[in-house]
Amino acid sequence: MKIDLLLGLQWGDEGKGKIVDVLTKNYDIIARFQGGPNAGHTLIFDGKKHVLHTIPSGIFHKTAMNVVGNGVVIDPVIFKKELENLDVHNIDYTSKLLISRKAHLILPTHRLLDAASETSKGKAKIGSTLKGIGPTYMDKTGRNGMRVGDLELDNWKEKYEALTKKHIKMLHFFDVQIEYNLEELEAEFCKGIDKLRQLQFIDSEEYLNNAIKNNKTILAEGAQGSLLDIDFGTYPFVTSSNTTAAGACTGLGVAPNKIGDVFGIFKAYTTRVGSGPFPTELFDKDGETMAKVGHEFGATTGRARRCGWLDLVALKYAIQVNGVTQLMMMKGDVLSGFDTLKIATSYNYKGKEITHLPYNIEPENVSVNYTEFKGWQADLTKMTHKDQLPKNLLEYVAFIEKETEVPIKIVSVGPDRLQTIDR
Ligand code: IMP
Repeated sequence: MKIDLLLGLQWGDEGKGKIVDVLTKNYDIIARFQGGPNAGHTLIFDGKKHVLHTIPSGIFHKTAMNVVGNGVVIDPVIFKKELENLDVHNIDYTSKLLISRKAHLILPTHRLLDAASETSKGKAKIGSTLKGIGPTYMDKTGRNGMRVGDLELDNWKEKYEALTKKHIKMLHFFDVQIEYNLEELEAEFCKGIDKLRQLQFIDSEEYLNNAIKNNKTILAEGAQGSLLDIDFGTYPFVTSSNTTAAGACTGLGVAPNKIGDVFGIFKAYTTRVGSGPFPTELFDKDGETMAKVGHEFGATTGRARRCGWLDLVALKYAIQVNGVTQLMMMKGDVLSGFDTLKIATSYNYKGKEITHLPYNIEPENVSVNYTEFKGWQADLTKMTHKDQLPKNLLEYVAFIEKETEVPIKIVSVGPDRLQTIDR
């Protein structure tokens, strides 16, 4: 059996959590492969909303096993809160949630370093979620990090203290002052570690490869989006991990020839939170409508998301680097009511019209050419079958399919599990 991947094709917040939740019934195992509590995966069912940050979105299903892979970074403080939220709903996570020993830990001082680094950047700041993601991955690649497996060693505290000491010294290099109370932060961290220890730590690459051998079905769940990928995103305004398909191989320890379907999730329009270029961004009433109707506020930070038209140049790029085999279009309902819709189909770049994503997409380098579509007025949120979808929406969808050469298998018409139309 091969392992299927599910990832975001834009700048995150595409609705991956909802689709993982919808698809979980088809899988034995859901495995997160990168990112950490910078993610916010929202699931709505039975009239309740749940937001997960680090825990895979299959946790609410009775039978699925959930694995936090080696590519993920875990903040024990936030993880504890996520587990406590599951306690409220009587979810038995101790048997269904497995943690890779090779996953790295976010220390309190990683968060402080994130804050110091962002503040010192001034106007050039990335707009980080400030969850310590960048500094933790820096320690990973710098070969200084602390991993979950270290917690099984007698000397884990010594390791922790040495790294914390180093971070405190590093904080002095920044020309900004970050206020903190280390004792309080450490007390919280230790409580988080105690909670984390209630879970099973595993050699996840061994577990997953055995599962593949034994014909178990596995879905790898990505976080953030392809345009935030450390290599292929809009660098430096990106996150610090590989959010694209290759990240699933390194973040879970599965070989490329074990990858099956790649599900690419995208919104019918585009959003971005934080800084960085965004060629189709809108600064007018249309953008305001998308933000309002689409409730475009970050699930992790509550920040307002920037909104704009769908960008096919960027979408095709993301489909290419990920090898997407099936598309899923989210938030189609948010576009109801527009007279005219636009899709970016090419850029003007250095005096030429181009259809691929160039190295630099800052506004001074690119302008956008759009194709216009007739909008639809019908409220989609109560629709349950593909035959109910308005003609103009089907034309919008058909155009994207023709341009990308990938079928759109799901059209999502609302946040609830049930508001999902299979095509
Ligand atoms: P960091 O990963 O928290 O350092 O943030 C780096 C950039 O990625 C910032 O622009 C964030 O707003 C963005 N980002 C990180 N995680 C997410 C996410 O889950 N959804 C959307 N944007 C994100």
